Amino acid sequence: MSVTQISGEKIIMQDSLYTKVDMNQPVQDAIRNRRSIREFSDLPVKRELLEKILNAGIWAPSGLNNQPWRFVLTCDRQINARLAEQTSYAHIVSGAPSLIAVYLDREIMYDAVKDHQAAGACIQNMLLAAHELGLGAVWLGQILQNKEQVNEILQLSDQYDLMALLALGYPQHRNQQSRRQPLTDFILHEFGGDNP
Ligand SMILES: Cc1cc2nc3c(=O)[nH]c(=O)nc-3n(C[C@H](O)[C@H](O)[C@H](O)COP(=O)(O)O)c2cc1C
Repeated sequence: MSVTQISGEKIIMQDSLYTKVDMNQPVQDAIRNRRSIREFSDLPVKRELLEKILNAGIWAPSGLNNQPWRFVLTCDRQINARLAEQTSYAHIVSGAPSLIAVYLDREIMYDAVKDHQAAGACIQNMLLAAHELGLGAVWLGQILQNKEQVNEILQLSDQYDLMALLALGYPQHRNQQSRRQPLTDFILHEFGGDNP
């Protein structure tokens, strides 16, 4: 195997195939450095940025490419205050300049597990996009215990099943810490490959 470097890109030659590796690794970087942000400045988030975040969400994979996700955006302080009453994380919801409620459309769903997995992929894409844009966000799940009330506040029928509320804004600080167990804790078995 040989490795060549051409204008910032590393080209790994292997068996006449080559793979481009971006030396800056923006995806790896965003995955590793994204943190749940729960305290926001008062700065509003421009609609254009919210749209970029939603676009990242809809480019997630979904089973049969059925794209079962639906969104409600709210930057309305009164609506946000009512949503805040539905969760023990009220301070996060009422303190965020923007909220994105992520739904599954029951009429589009075809397989509960796969559609929920697609919603998760969509949400993670949005969290990473928010991070890349210099924003902060947190995935809020506790509010699901009051999903009927949330639908009422957001004027939606039960055709729409709430998956999460994302609180978004400019981070007040970036002191958030988070830990992961070592990778070896998660690998149950490894068969073959080039692990020495
Ligand atoms: C399904 C799910 C539900 C979550 N619900 C909440 C929540 O209700 N409130 C909250 O503050 N954080 C919530 N989180 C964020 C997690 O607490 C957070 O991702 C975890 O502690 C790891 O921290 P990190 O995101 O900074 O790496 C949720 C995350 C997921 C994936």
